[in-house]
Amino acid sequence: MYKILLRENSQTRVIQTQGQQSLLEILRNEDYSIYAPCGGKGRCGKCLVDIKGEGKVLACNYYPAGDIEVILPAKEEAQILATQTAYLEDFPPAHSRQLLHPDAYGAAIDLGTTTIVCYFVHLASGRIVKISSWMNPQTAYGADVISRISYCQENPGGLKLLQKILTESINKEFNSFLSEMKAGKQQIQETVIAGNTTMLHILLGYNPEPLALAPFTPAFTAQQVHKAENSSLLLHPLGRLITLPCISAYVGSDIVAGLAVLKVPLQHYLFLDIGTNGEMALVKGEEIFTCATAAGPAFEGAGLSSGMPALKGAIAAFESPSNYKVIGDVRPVGICGSGVIDSVAWLRRNHLMDESGLIQQDFEIYPGIQITQADIREIQLAKSAIYSGIKILLKRAGLNFQELEALFLAGGLGNYIHIPSAVEIGLLPAELKDKTFAVGNSAGIGALQFLRSEVFANKVDRVIQQSQYIELSDDEDFALEFAMNMDFLK
Ligand code: FES
Repeated sequence: MYKILLRENSQTRVIQTQGQQSLLEILRNEDYSIYAPCGGKGRCGKCLVDIKGEGKVLACNYYPAGDIEVILPAKEEAQILATQTAYLEDFPPAHSRQLLHPDAYGAAIDLGTTTIVCYFVHLASGRIVKISSWMNPQTAYGADVISRISYCQENPGGLKLLQKILTESINKEFNSFLSEMKAGKQQIQETVIAGNTTMLHILLGYNPEPLALAPFTPAFTAQQVHKAENSSLLLHPLGRLITLPCISAYVGSDIVAGLAVLKVPLQHYLFLDIGTNGEMALVKGEEIFTCATAAGPAFEGAGLSSGMPALKGAIAAFESPSNYKVIGDVRPVGICGSGVIDSVAWLRRNHLMDESGLIQQDFEIYPGIQITQADIREIQLAKSAIYSGIKILLKRAGLNFQELEALFLAGGLGNYIHIPSAVEIGLLPAELKDKTFAVGNSAGIGALQFLRSEVFANKVDRVIQQSQYIELSDDEDFALEFAMNMDFLK
């Protein structure tokens, strides 16, 4: 039996271990969330912790063989991306539900793979009382949905564990909100959640494994309504948990809620959430064509040598080696998706990378933060997957770029991204450069409108009825498009 002294900021704690588990597993079991994009497979190099006297080690590859002292990295704060934008509709509060308390509250949640945003609403008035955001604790088990599904496949009890840490993190926010409001323990009457199909499966305890295997059949796509007693969430005993409907295994209710809440008097437009999975929709009048690309989590900063999510310390914008912006104005510790897109565009513009993506040497942005050849390959795969997905949607809808009136970018990256750079690297179409707009957290705002107004439920139903899903792995043109869009053309 060995002793592990854990130091986190000014706090210390001692735990015991027998040495058969990796340090990552030990820390997870003790409820310390270590960022582990590859899910503990020793590939991403991100789960670094400091061992006194030994220096930095990968927690997933380190098996304590004696007493040690571990200095844990500072906890990262999720960046709130929660505000209503002009592109999203705001419904007047109108709901016929019977209130179970004069000051009953509701929670509208955008359940993201990386971050979770929660809007607490006073149900009688429809007023937003608080907005919270935090890292999805499952990031300690992998950056993207595929690594979370693998964890469920490879570990007996894996699904239960991922479900438990997720519901516990939501309940923790509920508790802190209720104590701030000096409200009773069970004053949250209704919770509405929008998220990708995998996140919703794990939240509700459904086996997500079929989502990773052809023919990619979800256990459910329809709206789910659970009574409080079946939800694991801290709700009023007569309250309910509602998850919004999905379209397919990889086009989730985050896209459905986003499409339903868009307020745009247009006929033909694209809606794109790059995130970890490149979900997209093409609206053509009354028809909606949707698909999802296996873009991987590169634009979320995972899988890249110096990549990180858009958190404090991330280089989020890069104009030149002497002009870049770091989130929180602190010393940079890594680079997030928008910074990577800017940097790759700069390399191409300055002839330091050729059209095939070849660089002469790794590009150091700041001591210890670099873009490597392998990073560029990851970016090429991701950008080609997304651009090719857009091309296939256009083909199936019988439209061309000139006929599109706008491209709306949802989610965090959409907000940070520098559109000219995204166009320069071939992630977004040049034809839509001046018609591309960030809409903010449309999934969360959609869940919020569902909570506030019964009218919004009709809009959600319409999106589901109008949508058709195109499975890109079955599409005869996708492989060719994918190969053709790999290069960085001017
Ligand atoms: S290298 Fe340890 S989690 Fe990826």
